[in-house]
Amino acid sequence: MTATANDELKAELLEIALDAAHRAGAFLRDGRPDDLGVAATKSSAVDVVTEMDIASEKLITGLLAEVRPDDGVLGEEGADVEGTSGVQWVIDPIDGTVNYLYGLPGWAVSIAARKDGETLVGVVHAPMRGETYRAVLGGGAYVNDRPARVRPAPDLALALVGTGFGYLADRRTRQAEVLGQLISQVRDIRRAGSAAIDLCDVATGRLDAYYERGLNPWDYAAGDLIAREAGALTGGRPGDPLSTDLTVAAPPGLFEPLQARLDELGAWHD
Ligand code: IPD
Ligand code: CA
Repeated sequence: MTATANDELKAELLEIALDAAHRAGAFLRDGRPDDLGVAATKSSAVDVVTEMDIASEKLITGLLAEVRPDDGVLGEEGADVEGTSGVQWVIDPIDGTVNYLYGLPGWAVSIAARKDGETLVGVVHAPMRGETYRAVLGGGAYVNDRPARVRPAPDLALALVGTGFGYLADRRTRQAEVLGQLISQVRDIRRAGSAAIDLCDVATGRLDAYYERGLNPWDYAAGDLIAREAGALTGGRPGDPLSTDLTVAAPPGLFEPLQARLDELGAWHD
């Protein structure tokens, strides 16, 4: 693919991702039933799905199928289409479902487009913040229409670090042990409830760093690109790319000592 064709593809994918994320976000914000309940559970009794997660994924996949019928799709609530174009969409129809269920504002729609294993476009739309974070590979990151940039790296001891917990009791116990060690070695910890927003908070300097074990591609695909395009490094264990085992994001200078400390603490295993 020529450079121009690739730029045109990225521009097209960004426009589609922004449109789908805004439509799903408006639907979720304006259509949230007052008596919203749990429709189903997944890995454990606290890993919940609401009717709105399912409806949001349907809305997004329906829009994508109309405009790019040959693309693959992977969604948290079950969308799984192989596709023939080489482009794959990775969708979290609500990241922060527990926040959404309880009426807390920290939830987002996350949409990424990948080609040949590389994320080309990422959009995280957080309706209750009135903010949309977006990035195109090689094109920088933006929050609404302002460039997004990470905060200069502080010493690890002065870092405000976001994290999250999985839904399985054994994993959480282990995550709490790691956190129990780390908390006295950093400024403070935040657990806001949406991995996609946490990654964007690193991108905009609202967090110095973020890490979590057990994320799925739909949680991190868009936020990872946004954080990197805003100047963060992202990865898993030292030398590894970010993965379900471990996701770490921070500006250079903080990333390395945090990643090393998390490795010593065994943050990558249950
Ligand atoms: C969850 C959120 C949460 C993180 C969990 C994720 P969901 O996604 O991103 O912050 O700690 O690991 O599973 O279930 O709200 O889409
Ligand atoms: Ca999620």
